[in-house]
Amino acid sequence: DLELHPPKNPWSHNGWFKSLDHASVRRGYEVYKQVCAACHSMRFIAYRNLVGVTHTEEEAKAEAEEQMVTDGPDDQGNMFQRPGKLSDYFPNPYPNEEAARAANNGAFPPDLSYIVSARHGGEDYIFSLLTGYYDAPAGVILREGQYYNPYFPGGAISMAQALYNEVIEYSDGTPATASQLAKDVSTFLKWTAEPEHDDRKRMTIKAIGIFTILFLLSYYAKRSKWASLK
Ligand code: HEM
Repeated sequence: DLELHPPKNPWSHNGWFKSLDHASVRRGYEVYKQVCAACHSMRFIAYRNLVGVTHTEEEAKAEAEEQMVTDGPDDQGNMFQRPGKLSDYFPNPYPNEEAARAANNGAFPPDLSYIVSARHGGEDYIFSLLTGYYDAPAGVILREGQYYNPYFPGGAISMAQALYNEVIEYSDGTPATASQLAKDVSTFLKWTAEPEHDDRKRMTIKAIGIFTILFLLSYYAKRSKWASLK
């Protein structure tokens, strides 16, 4: 079998009390927008979701306004185009699945909103997949439009390598090596799949604090109630 399991990477969000690296999530959004969004939709994320996570409200509004959205019908029953708003979801690169397949040699680029939860290996898999393109070893036959990637089940993927050194420039000046781009977009996709990640971990900290107090209270209450019977 020519398949590899992705190695586990030391993500800074690993661990009970660790939040996502929001600077990385923001850079990952830039990668998604400038590279992946050409082929992959992200139907479940709206521009308002960026506010307070990666962008200020003003910045998120500006991101939304960069795209034109079909709205309507208006008073005359016509559809019309308008600039995007915070409440709009990310645009879909193709009108339907048929068009998506036609543009990708018959393969369908899946929606990336929940891909980290949908694939074994999560963000480690995404990182390995994006940095895992190699020349096909002898004996592997690739069809037209297929590429060799040992992390993809079966090894033949219909997505070309998307990330190269400096394929985009980061707005925060971080050197955009291929592995940096892959790490950041994987972190971004971790956030889109688990937007409650940081809240959940904050809740863990609160729960440990509250249960510790309750345990101590009940322990000393028990000791004092039973003291006379000992
Ligand atoms: C599949 C991520 C860019 C076309 C996939 C898969 C992921 C992914 C996670 C699913 C693999 C699986 O099923 O396990 C990304 C990311 C990108 C990116 C993060 C940006 C960094 C692109 C671009 C294109 C594209 C630019 C088109 C030129 C496809 C296609 C598939 C696919 C056609 C289906 C492959 C198959 O089923 O053989 N991508 N992708 N992707 N992607 Fe991308």
